[in-house]
Amino acid sequence: MSRVFFKRLCKSYGDNEVVKDFSIEIEDGEFITFLGPSGCGKTTSLRMVAGFVRPTSGEIIIGDSIVSSPASRIFIQPEDRKLGMVFQSYAVWPHMNVFNNIAYPLRIKKEQKSVIAKKVEKILDLVDMSELGKRFPSELSGGQQQRVALARALVMEPEVLLLDEPLSNLDAKLREDMRIEIKELQKKTGITIIFVTHDQMEAMLMSDRVVVMEKGVIHQVGDPVSIYQNPANFFVAGFIGTANFIKPGHLDEIGYRSAKTCMVRPEDIVLDKEKGRYRGTVAQKMFIGEGFLYVIDFRGDALKVKALPTQQYDPGSEVGMDFSKVLCLNI
Ligand SMILES: Nc1ncnc2c1ncn2[C@@H]1O[C@H](COP(=O)(O)OP(=O)(O)OP(=O)(O)O)[C@@H](O)[C@H]1O
Ligand SMILES: [Mg+2]
Repeated sequence: MSRVFFKRLCKSYGDNEVVKDFSIEIEDGEFITFLGPSGCGKTTSLRMVAGFVRPTSGEIIIGDSIVSSPASRIFIQPEDRKLGMVFQSYAVWPHMNVFNNIAYPLRIKKEQKSVIAKKVEKILDLVDMSELGKRFPSELSGGQQQRVALARALVMEPEVLLLDEPLSNLDAKLREDMRIEIKELQKKTGITIIFVTHDQMEAMLMSDRVVVMEKGVIHQVGDPVSIYQNPANFFVAGFIGTANFIKPGHLDEIGYRSAKTCMVRPEDIVLDKEKGRYRGTVAQKMFIGEGFLYVIDFRGDALKVKALPTQQYDPGSEVGMDFSKVLCLNI
């Protein structure tokens, strides 16, 4: 287990600054997620921790050691950083069976045969694949291949595990199962995990803390609940969960009289056929299993609203609304 500190970390390719002044303190044993749209610098940040990309300036500290610091001319090689990494396109060797895939990094390190066997068996058990050691990747499901990639990263007993969109190639059901498995694995090993995803739901489900990024800038770092309930700005509000933005002036009656745009979550809008301070028109009705998702036309804004299965309103009809929680954002 290890902590990981980023101190004013920057990375540029030519004039293109892809990571701008990152400072984060990742605790020992923490599950932290880098979340943001494509191209925002997630993989670059992870690769700087791993040592595959050199920062332009700033520092990275793992445990008690500075591993990257251009100013001090320090650069520790990837193999000496005690990290495990699963890459965005998790590559397992197609010509090696599961056992040999996992044993590979140990063989490179010239570990004894008996030690290798012991360690691989232990990891196979951890990822629940003890029976499948002799299979080749082509004989495995996507999720099982994913677990081989995880096992291969874990067999070196890293102090920090870096996972770059490890679930993006899996179908929805498998992804859900693997999320739970990765969380279980972290509980068993106590390892520090830096996870990368562009899937906000995945980030919220799995993380102790989430780092919300855009275009190389960190907008907010916090636990999922506080980021969802108190987004720092418009970008975070819109990227995490569903946000309804209501134009300035449209909520004057309930005291939001400033020029600010207001934000309401779909679950914070209460619908009622008769009652409600505001009236809107049902534009769309969608069944979402646990109830309905409505799109309500409210003074020209299209508001998404979650409702119970018993709350049925026909498209085109008028409906009353109250807002139980409204957030006003300046930036
Ligand atoms: N070796 C490189 N040379 C030049 N530009 C690069 C290089 N690697 C990445 N970039 C640029 O840096 C930016 C960040 O890339 P990065 O791979 O970190 O994004 P990402 O957040 O991981 O995106 P995605 O979700 O698509 O994987 C992008 O604009 C990318 O084009
Ligand atoms: Mg990436």
